[in-house]
Amino acid sequence: MKYRIVDDIWGQLKFYTEGDNYLLITDENIYSLYKENIDSLLNGKDNIYLIKPGEKNKNLSEIGKIYDYLIGKNIERDGLILSLGGGMVGDMAGFAAATYKRGINYVQIPTSLLAQVDSSIGGKTGIDHGGYKNIIGAFHFPLETLIDIRFLKTLSERDISSGLGEVIKYGIIEDYSFFKYVQENIKKIYGKSEEILSFIVERSVEIKASIVKKDKFDLNLRQKLNFGHTIGHGMESFFNYERYYHGEAVILGMLIEANIAYKKGLIDYNYYEEIRNTLTNLVEPYEFSDEELNTIIQIMKNDKKNRDGKIAFILPVGKGEVEIFFDVEETLIKEAFIYLD
Ligand SMILES: NC(=O)c1ccc[n+]([C@@H]2O[C@H](COP(=O)([O-])OP(=O)(O)OC[C@H]3O[C@@H](n4cnc5c(N)ncnc54)[C@H](O)[C@@H]3O)[C@@H](O)[C@H]2O)c1
Repeated sequence: MKYRIVDDIWGQLKFYTEGDNYLLITDENIYSLYKENIDSLLNGKDNIYLIKPGEKNKNLSEIGKIYDYLIGKNIERDGLILSLGGGMVGDMAGFAAATYKRGINYVQIPTSLLAQVDSSIGGKTGIDHGGYKNIIGAFHFPLETLIDIRFLKTLSERDISSGLGEVIKYGIIEDYSFFKYVQENIKKIYGKSEEILSFIVERSVEIKASIVKKDKFDLNLRQKLNFGHTIGHGMESFFNYERYYHGEAVILGMLIEANIAYKKGLIDYNYYEEIRNTLTNLVEPYEFSDEELNTIIQIMKNDKKNRDGKIAFILPVGKGEVEIFFDVEETLIKEAFIYLD
């Protein structure tokens, strides 16, 4: 897994755009924000495909159009896809690269915080289908991931929160001092301090890459990356992926799952309170009715991480430490949704 943190992304990309055997895939938002740089990189060539932004376009029909473009441009087996964008572009471009001509190389250039700290690292690519998220996909590791944190300057506040969810997760599952660092610097992160963002992106990538390296194809150790995701995914799906961004749902998921850990006696009240105080103000909460909670629990029962019909939870058991549990009672799950005293 190769990644580099760079501060001259457009200069770095010139290396890949000299010939004609490549396609740059990005979305319309990023193109309009970085038009000058992109046009100058392409130098008059039309080796670019623009995706319509938004999760609803992460589908087979858009992938079909990318294949058509790759064929039309005569991109060969030793060609390259450059994926410039957030997680949605990265998942699509990566999936096109994984499948076109049985797999060609691609390079990830993540532009959102979530993509820089999470989705561009780890080789998972895919698309949504039939109402199921990421149901079709492939493991396909990029040639390299090039991260330039200056992209984050143009990112919205909600997209910062969404990426921050995954950043905080790394601290809770692996490195308590990093969790503390993020707590102390939250305001500066939203203020887009380059110094703080550089550190949090670098440390997050280091943590994710070290976990992925030990379990490339998600057979065991990678599961710890799912802290906050059992409930987070349940909520995203309940709201049809419309109310919360992915990382926002993970933030709420971590709040509730930390409460489960506290109620099960796995962590003490002080640590639970620390997690809760860090997370509560980042996302608009939602009060679920009992009936709605039953629906979410049903959704969670379909998760592929479950065993013998029991829902899998990654729960904190100490500072910077988590374990997997299959024995959380439904009544406890429901109680944990009330996380504010
Ligand atoms: N492959 C993986 O391991 C993995 C992991 C987590 C999430 N994901 C996927 O990632 C996607 C979510 O990623 P995301 O949060 O980056 O969403 P996204 O790619 O939809 O980007 C969010 C929005 O931010 C815009 N944007 C991106 N970079 C920008 C920038 N620098 N300045 C201004 N606007 C910018 C995009 O145009 C879009 O409107 C989901 O599809 C999810 O399934 C994949």
